[in-house]
Amino acid sequence: MGFSASLLLFPLLFFLLNPTWVHGNAELRALIDMKASLDPEGHHLRSWTINSNPCGGSFEGVACNEKGQVANISLQGKGLPGKLSPAIAELKHLTGLYLHYNSLNGEIPREVANLTKLSDLYLNVNHLSGEIPPEIGRMESLQGTMIQQLAQVSH
Ligand SMILES: *[C@@H]1O[C@H](CO)[C@@H](O)[C@H](O)[C@H]1NC(C)=O
Ligand SMILES: *[C@@H]1O[C@H](CO)[C@@H](O)[C@H](O)[C@H]1NC(C)=O
Repeated sequence: MGFSASLLLFPLLFFLLNPTWVHGNAELRALIDMKASLDPEGHHLRSWTINSNPCGGSFEGVACNEKGQVANISLQGKGLPGKLSPAIAELKHLTGLYLHYNSLNGEIPREVANLTKLSDLYLNVNHLSGEIPPEIGRMESLQGTMIQQLAQVSH
């Protein structure tokens, strides 16, 4: 009895106490929010599903660091038709965001500037409009950035 109870209890405790799962959960929520906004008709990001681990290797374009935190989103040229969601701010360990060559529209959320580890930001060749939020221009972490040509187009 005791043995089988502990067989059940151990995985449960592990699950509840595992810190990766706790922030993994916030990141999963953010990714699912982003999916709804990047791909509102659900044609492109089918592999981003609510009941799986974004760092398990099944999420198209998502790569994680060795701590199991989402570090890279690489979805260039995927035909994404939607918008970039402010939920991106929850992916606090993101270092690379590659969304160039899509059909994204709307404005760049200023929440991108909350990503203090972001070094590579590629949003060029989309249908984005509005100004580049000045907070993004002030980000110290950025090394490679391609977000040109939006402000000019829309003014
Ligand atoms: C992040 O994605 C970019 C673009 O696809 C790729 O060049 C880079 O190697 C990726 N970095 C990591 C750490 O996965
Ligand atoms: C983003 O940063 C601003 C300014 O530091 C802060 O007020 C805001 O709460 C942050 N938003 C998120 C979603 O982390």
